Amino acid sequence: MNRDVIIACDFASKEEVMTFLNRFGDERPFVKIGMELYYSAGPDIVREIKERGHKIFLDLKLHDIPNTVKKSMNVLSRLGVDMTNLHAAGTIAMMEAAIEGLTRPDGTRPLLIAVTQLTSTGEDRMREELLIDHPIDEVVMHYAANAKKAGLDGVVCSPLEAGKVHETCGKQFITVTPGVRFADGDIGDQVRVTTPAKAKEIGSDFIVVGRPITAAADPLAAYKRCVEEFCK
Ligand code: C5P
Repeated sequence: MNRDVIIACDFASKEEVMTFLNRFGDERPFVKIGMELYYSAGPDIVREIKERGHKIFLDLKLHDIPNTVKKSMNVLSRLGVDMTNLHAAGTIAMMEAAIEGLTRPDGTRPLLIAVTQLTSTGEDRMREELLIDHPIDEVVMHYAANAKKAGLDGVVCSPLEAGKVHETCGKQFITVTPGVRFADGDIGDQVRVTTPAKAKEIGSDFIVVGRPITAAADPLAAYKRCVEEFCK
């Protein structure tokens, strides 16, 4: 798997995302479309960005009964996305159903990755509210192992967990890691961050970078800096 930088296009409208992508000239970066943009602009935004030649990670984090997830994944695979995701908490049966739904008649399918525990869920809340009585690192690795058992391609995790995930699930199991900041950049609301260079060293396969690129005075230069640090 080739390392790549995925830009989190966290915009609320088609106009905003198109204005942003027009600043990239002939570059066609891999982009992440999340719930905000998808729910406001609909599936057409995926088709349109795909037609421009971008790879797309559709970050909708599905979690429902297996049959519903299977049918929904089938719809998403027809949009031609390159990567999508779900919550590992939906069980192995749900993840297996997702793969079935996602697989196209010719046998190809987008990469499917799992969210383990959201990074916004701390160990205290997990114990008190979700009644999961194990250390959070163990829970994350267990959910990653379940995802692998179900046949998924990888997980979304902190770059700091990427090495451990590869130890547990193997080198081929993909780690997609947000929480990336330049050494001289603003960390914003992220807590545990790493630089693109450090993420590469730990073994992330894809870094997801939002505001360090979307809020930069020169987004193309910021993107190229990420590629330089992470991919070269
Ligand atoms: O702007 P920033 O670089 O913080 O954006 C990171 C992106 O990754 C956002 O789209 C955010 O929702 C997503 N994300 C995250 N942490 C997770 C999962 C997803 O920051 N654990």
